[in-house]
Amino acid sequence: MVTITDSVKYIGVDDKDIDLFEGQYVVPNGISYNSYLILDEKTAVMDTVDARRSREWLDGLRKELGGRMPDYLVISHLEPDHAGTVGELLKAYPDITLVGNAKTFSMLPNFFDVEGCKKLEVAEGSTLSLGKHTLRFLMAPMVHWPEVMVTYEETEKILFSADGFGKFGALDTEEDWTCEARRYYFNIVGKYGAPVQALLKKAAALDIAVICPLHGPVLKEDLGFYLDKYNTWSSYQPEDKGVLIAYASIHGNTAKAAALLREQLLSLGEEKVAITDLARDDMAEAVEDAFRYDRIVLAASSYDAGLFPPMEDFLMHLKAKTYQKRVAAIVENGSWAPSAGRKMREYLESMKEIRILEPMVTIRSTVKKETEEQLRKLAETIRHA
Ligand code: FEO
Repeated sequence: MVTITDSVKYIGVDDKDIDLFEGQYVVPNGISYNSYLILDEKTAVMDTVDARRSREWLDGLRKELGGRMPDYLVISHLEPDHAGTVGELLKAYPDITLVGNAKTFSMLPNFFDVEGCKKLEVAEGSTLSLGKHTLRFLMAPMVHWPEVMVTYEETEKILFSADGFGKFGALDTEEDWTCEARRYYFNIVGKYGAPVQALLKKAAALDIAVICPLHGPVLKEDLGFYLDKYNTWSSYQPEDKGVLIAYASIHGNTAKAAALLREQLLSLGEEKVAITDLARDDMAEAVEDAFRYDRIVLAASSYDAGLFPPMEDFLMHLKAKTYQKRVAAIVENGSWAPSAGRKMREYLESMKEIRILEPMVTIRSTVKKETEEQLRKLAETIRHA
């Protein structure tokens, strides 16, 4: 059971049998849909949950309300993993007042028929008194949808941070926060670094004791650690010194070159060299590692006079997430007319502040003595970049 304070209750639910979160992300330890209830003279429900867990959530809400009625539903984010149960809640409690901003109320009818229900429109800095507790609303557009807002509860100094500071993984799972929060951040919010920076500026002006996100654990201690991670991530600065080697190999020869380059880098004293097989490994983790480290190596086979699709897919993901401010090296493979290097370069050149290390290494089908030497030289260049 998650404990927050005497009058602020956790009423979220875990989802451990979802196959893909948001239709694409593997979540080996599930996901939590967080939701909170503030009990005061008035009661406020802070977001609902995914429709996959409506019944369980409504049962938990009823239990915590102990026969009272919920006065307000604060909708901080309309994405269905949070607002998916608004319709069910309205059926159960038709007198509840929905609290959202102008954008919330313009988008809400896309999901539910809210004709005739009670609505309270709030804007930047609006407050809502519940009795001893006062909610202050701060707009956070594009963290991660346009209608997103966060709520600061002034008495107990709680920031209800919407998707911000969220992570993959159900709450009954003991696991490191950083790894799954980083994979969550870069894949889900990663494109929106500037809006996250804007939100961090607003947060810096608040005295925050507790952060209540919409996924993952409630954060109560060492908040500077989490704020610092978010500042690094949203400013696109590398978090760690290290190299990600991302490869896409048809018959295993490019994979061998990637493994060899890794060995060479390690023997040169490079401490962190992650490697990922883009055809088999988790794409979201490859994206996460690309952002985590300061250098990246792209190694791919040529294909159909272009690029082997798993690498093209990876580069499209990086481009969509506004990958930038990194150092990159290229290794291509081609048996008769290598084309992969040109395509990888085009992608990298279309991104901001990517320094490409020269020369690119071209493998002709298999790694030979001569390519081994070229890879060794590339390893040295990467090591000193
Ligand atoms: Fe957790 Fe953007 O929804």
